[in-house]
Amino acid sequence: MIWSLQAAPDLTDQQFSQWCKLLEQRAGICLSDQQRIFLQTQVAMRMRELGQDDYSQYYNRLVDGVSGMMEWTVLIDRLVVKETSFFRHKPSFDYARNYLQNKVNNSELKESFDIWSVGCSTGEEPYSLAMIMNDIYGLARIDPYYGITATDISRAALAIARAGVYPQRKVELVDKAVRQRYFEPRENNRFTVKPELKERICFNQGNVLNIKDLPTINLDLIFCQNVLIYFRKWLRHEIMNAFAERLKPGGIIICGLGEVVDWTHPNIDRLSVDEVQAYVRK
Ligand SMILES: C[S@@+](CC[C@H](N)C(=O)[O-])C[C@H]1O[C@@H](n2cnc3c(N)ncnc32)[C@H](O)[C@@H]1O
Repeated sequence: MIWSLQAAPDLTDQQFSQWCKLLEQRAGICLSDQQRIFLQTQVAMRMRELGQDDYSQYYNRLVDGVSGMMEWTVLIDRLVVKETSFFRHKPSFDYARNYLQNKVNNSELKESFDIWSVGCSTGEEPYSLAMIMNDIYGLARIDPYYGITATDISRAALAIARAGVYPQRKVELVDKAVRQRYFEPRENNRFTVKPELKERICFNQGNVLNIKDLPTINLDLIFCQNVLIYFRKWLRHEIMNAFAERLKPGGIIICGLGEVVDWTHPNIDRLSVDEVQAYVRK
C-alpha cells in the first residue's frame, strides 16, 4: 500500500516524549497525553507531504541547522492552537477601552500610546484593539501617535493577519456599527479591514520565549490572552516578569482569565476588576 493511503504509524512512548520536549523547548507549549493523537497526526501529515515515513529521521532533519529551522517554521504552524475572534472575551476589550478613555479625559495622553498584542494569531485581536483606539481618538478629535506591535510564532497566521481579509462568519460577530466603520466588503462574502487600521499595526514573527530579542519596550498596554495557558507555571511567571519590565509607569497588562496564577511582582499591582485579569505598573 502506498504511504499516502496508510494510517499514520503510532509514535512510541519514547518518540512522543522526544517530540513533546522539542515543542516545549522551542515554543514553551506543553502537550498532555490526551494530545498524543493530535501531535502524531500533524507530524505524520507533514512527513507525508515530504515523502518521509520515519519519525526519527524527520526529527533529525528538524534539529539540523538552518534547513531544520526552516522546516520548523512550517511544522510549528500545524502544532499551535490559533483559535481567535474579534473582541474575544469582551470584558477585556471593554477594560482596555475604559483605560484609554480615562487617559483621554484626564489629558494624560502626552506622547505615543504603544500596545503589544502577544500571540496575535490571525490578527483579530490587534485589529479589535486598533478599532478601540480609532474610536476614542476620533471622538475626542485628537491625533496623537498610537501603534500596535503584534507578534506570533506562526508565520502562516501572520500572513493572514497582514492581509486583513476575513470571511463573513467572523466579521458578522462584530457589532454592526463597528463592522460598517472598519470593514469593506470584498468578493466571495469576504471583508477586508480598512487601511486606517492596518497602517497602525506592525506584525512581526516573534517567539515570546525569546522576549529579550523582541523590540517591545516602553509599552502602555500589553494584551496577552490564550497564549501562556499552554506553558508551565514557572515559565508563565518568567514571561510576566519580562512583561512587567516592558511597561511604562502606569501601563497595564491584560491577560486571559487564568492565564497566570499566583503571580506577583514588586513593581506591579493586580487590578480589581470583575471578569478581567489585569495588572498595572506602579
Ligand atoms: C489560541 S491563539 C490566541 C490568539 C489571541 N491572543 C486570542 O486570544 O484570541 C494562541 C496563539 O499563540 C501563538 N503562540 C503559541 N506559542 C507561542 C510562542 N512561544 N511565541 C509566540 N506566539 C506563540 C500561537 O501561534 C497562536 O496564534
